Amino acid sequence: MLAEALLTKARRAGATPEQMQILEARLGSDHVAADLGLAHEWAWLSEPRFTFVDLFAGIGGMRLAAESEGGRCVGSIEIDKKCIDTYRHNFGDDPSGDITVIDPRSVADHNLLLAGFPCQAFSIAGLKGGFEDTRGTLFRNVAEIIAAKRPDAFILENVKGLVSHDKRKTLAVILNTLVGFPVNYHLVQPSGKSKLKGEGWSVLNALDFGVSQNRERIFIVGFKDPMAADRFRFPNPTTPGGAGLSLQDVLEDGPRWRTPVHARHFISEKYLQGLKRHRDHHESIGQGFGFEVRDHHGYANALVGGGMGRERNLIKAQMGPQVGTLDGLKGPRNDEGLRRMTPREWARLQGFPEWFEPHHADTHTYKQFGNSVAVPNVAAVVSAVMAAIERVDLPENEPSASPRQTRIAWSQPESRPNPR
Ligand SMILES: C[S@@+](CC[C@H](N)C(=O)[O-])C[C@H]1O[C@@H](n2cnc3c(N)ncnc32)[C@H](O)[C@@H]1O
Repeated sequence: MLAEALLTKARRAGATPEQMQILEARLGSDHVAADLGLAHEWAWLSEPRFTFVDLFAGIGGMRLAAESEGGRCVGSIEIDKKCIDTYRHNFGDDPSGDITVIDPRSVADHNLLLAGFPCQAFSIAGLKGGFEDTRGTLFRNVAEIIAAKRPDAFILENVKGLVSHDKRKTLAVILNTLVGFPVNYHLVQPSGKSKLKGEGWSVLNALDFGVSQNRERIFIVGFKDPMAADRFRFPNPTTPGGAGLSLQDVLEDGPRWRTPVHARHFISEKYLQGLKRHRDHHESIGQGFGFEVRDHHGYANALVGGGMGRERNLIKAQMGPQVGTLDGLKGPRNDEGLRRMTPREWARLQGFPEWFEPHHADTHTYKQFGNSVAVPNVAAVVSAVMAAIERVDLPENEPSASPRQTRIAWSQPESRPNPR
């Protein structure tokens, strides 16, 4: 019933054939009622609670988070062709663009700016200066867009290493740039003393926000209105330390999904022996870094783009026989039933909805999910930011409890220009 109603509204409201096709596919999926999926459909069809731009869009993890809070994307920028393919396939928007060449003033007006900027910002060289020290960095392009478009707020996301980089000077330059001329934004004051919390930023762990993955990321949040900055608090954990979560819940061959895993995800005996030798070597020189087999009842190590993200998250298979041939393996399968996690399991560990279709080639998919964000973690930050702007008091320990949209109205598709 709900699915039919949504389709009718979308058709009447002038959805393009491409948008209708995507919507129909999602509504037909068994899992569309999963929290994020349904919230996403509502955000798409209803009067938006806020508008946002998705810079360094990747495959749209931050977009999913903002849409789940009732936001509408009015522009996205991404340079990588494979990410663009995945993004276009799932959202029907083309994010193609290079942030270094766009005119900041050409970016669509928006309430919230989202940017999971790449690590190039780490090359900032300055003595805790500000704007001038950021020349030639991708962070500078973000700062210029904030200065030109003056959104109500921004959320910047990056790896935890940014906090300590160059004896904290890099972070100081970034923060000074955000509060100084010509950006002039307001940062939230830290509450309580913590090495992982400071003026305008906090390190949050995805494990605390509903996914079984130990993923610590820095979030930098700023507001145009100083009063909103005063009201803002970083969200409280909803699943402290992964409480109530289990890696088993995302496993394809686990009790929840009961799907055989394709043979290509298993490692060969020869490869396993190589991993063991590599680990022994590193241990012998005092570096405890190597492959890991994760406990089904525990959580995953951080998913990262490179090969180690896969090897530090090996799983003991729970089901057989597996479909597919062993063609991709170098020699016979290992005797211990060890396999890598599948792309779908990575999608779940990043909190992506089931309707999201990864890129067709595994190597690109792992890289794309590894570079993306834990969606529920970002959603909790977006929720807290919007509550500060809208003066909504969030219930204690329920930082993601934001009002959902109930009015349905299709905004003009033309009002979704790409800032290129
Ligand atoms: C850390 S990833 C962000 C992932 C994204 N937040 C997500 O959820 O998938 C950084 C992205 O910035 C993109 N990028 C790097 N340089 C860029 C540029 N000059 N213009 C636009 N995008 C760029 C990269 O291709 C990469 O996908």
